[in-house]
Amino acid sequence: MAFAMKQIDGITVINNSGKVVFHAKYNPRFSKDSTFLRDPDKNLFELYPGLQPEDSTLVECVKNGKRIYREDQKFYDCNGNLINTDNVTLPIVKGGKVVGAIELSRDITSINDLAGDCSDEVSVGHKDGKSYAHFTYGDIITQNKVMIEIIEKTKIIADSISPVLIYGETGTGKELFAQSIHNYSDRKNKPFIAQNCAALPESLFESLLFGTVSGAFTGAHNKPGLFEIADGGTLYLDEINSMPLNLQSKLLRVLQDRHVRRLGDIKSSKIDVRIITSMNINPVDAVHKNILREDLFYRLNVVGIKIPPLRERRDDIPVLVNFFIRKYNDLFRHNVKGIEKEVFDMFQECSWNGNVRELEHVIESAINIVRDGYIHFRDLPVYLIDEMEEKMINVDKENDIHSLSGVVEEVERKIIKRSIERCMGNISQTAKLLNIPRQTLQYKIQKYNIKI
Ligand SMILES: Nc1ncnc2c1ncn2[C@@H]1O[C@H](COP(=O)(O)OP(=O)(O)OP(=O)(O)O)[C@@H](O)[C@H]1O
Ligand SMILES: [Mg+2]
Repeated sequence: MAFAMKQIDGITVINNSGKVVFHAKYNPRFSKDSTFLRDPDKNLFELYPGLQPEDSTLVECVKNGKRIYREDQKFYDCNGNLINTDNVTLPIVKGGKVVGAIELSRDITSINDLAGDCSDEVSVGHKDGKSYAHFTYGDIITQNKVMIEIIEKTKIIADSISPVLIYGETGTGKELFAQSIHNYSDRKNKPFIAQNCAALPESLFESLLFGTVSGAFTGAHNKPGLFEIADGGTLYLDEINSMPLNLQSKLLRVLQDRHVRRLGDIKSSKIDVRIITSMNINPVDAVHKNILREDLFYRLNVVGIKIPPLRERRDDIPVLVNFFIRKYNDLFRHNVKGIEKEVFDMFQECSWNGNVRELEHVIESAINIVRDGYIHFRDLPVYLIDEMEEKMINVDKENDIHSLSGVVEEVERKIIKRSIERCMGNISQTAKLLNIPRQTLQYKIQKYNIKI
């Protein structure tokens, strides 16, 4: 999701020893109270006792001196209320030294409440690891039978240590499922570590996964690998098919032995890690093409699920559209009421190659530009309008040959309507775009009773 913060509900400033030197919080949507503490003389963790140092963006920013954008940071405030925020955190630098950090926050708690309509639990940062899963089953919006079956199936196996292999096209919600399984399991208070296997060269990847001891190679330090960091929790390996074959066999050995040995170490240690892997190509094809080891595939695929692409579960489009409209209305403080019927009908025809992620981005960008409360064609990205127009012409082409003139008129009406929208109602521009005289356009507008 693109990070978009249009306004803020809170400011917190800490110095480099973690003391809060300024804190202002005001969220008129939920309460009339506001807190405004200048020099409150409190440590950040006294103010937010539920926050762990390793989860705090302010602490991270003071340490690294780098700007951080973080969406969906969940923690408890001192009254025990669960807060969910999007944050921008900036270092405060004096004389070349980081002396503190300032965080601007947007309270998005209500957005989760929306998602929580069907939520049966709330996820919270785990207590002792470095990373955590924030999605739960309540975040998976669906009314599709196959999806509901997958949810039921994965809930049943959530507590088991058996590996899960999730296969689905890009943007279908693989990570959403991986996090939800973790948060539904008895590992939910333990780390959830996600690693994309396509992102790293083999040598680095091996030490990242298994850890190193100092002297293992030049520059090696005593460092735990992801398996050790995820101990007790879940390790999510995304795009597992991109893992080099050599490393795949080492991974298989760790999964079979349940022991991991750091690079350069002589002793191994027992680990208790639940492995969830995912890939966006068919795993069986990957095995045939020798990019996924067959023995590893059987080990990983103890529980195998395939998330259908959006075009195969079009009944999810209405619920997702409504969900994203509510979500971005709330985030941007807009009041978009819905989507024009014709646009909605065309959504049902789109190929949605980017799946739910694409649909979400389309709604997010439309909500930014909608002018009269409803999403029209003109509010959609140009590539999507082009795809829709092409589809529309093809659909109409397939219509009954006996009503050819009717089909032609219908296509003409739709193209004119859409072009007027694209030109924001400017008739001369529309005539130019369609390459017809202005009078002809005006005649056709009347003929088809098109409202501008
Ligand atoms: N059923 C759903 N309900 C609500 N949001 C969803 C759903 N499915 C996906 N999303 C949203 O779509 C986006 C993509 O989801 P996710 O990252 O889980 O996909 P992915 O399959 O892991 O994609 P990729 O293969 O590109 O890594 C996220 O913002 C996620 O919240
Ligand atoms: Mg993913």
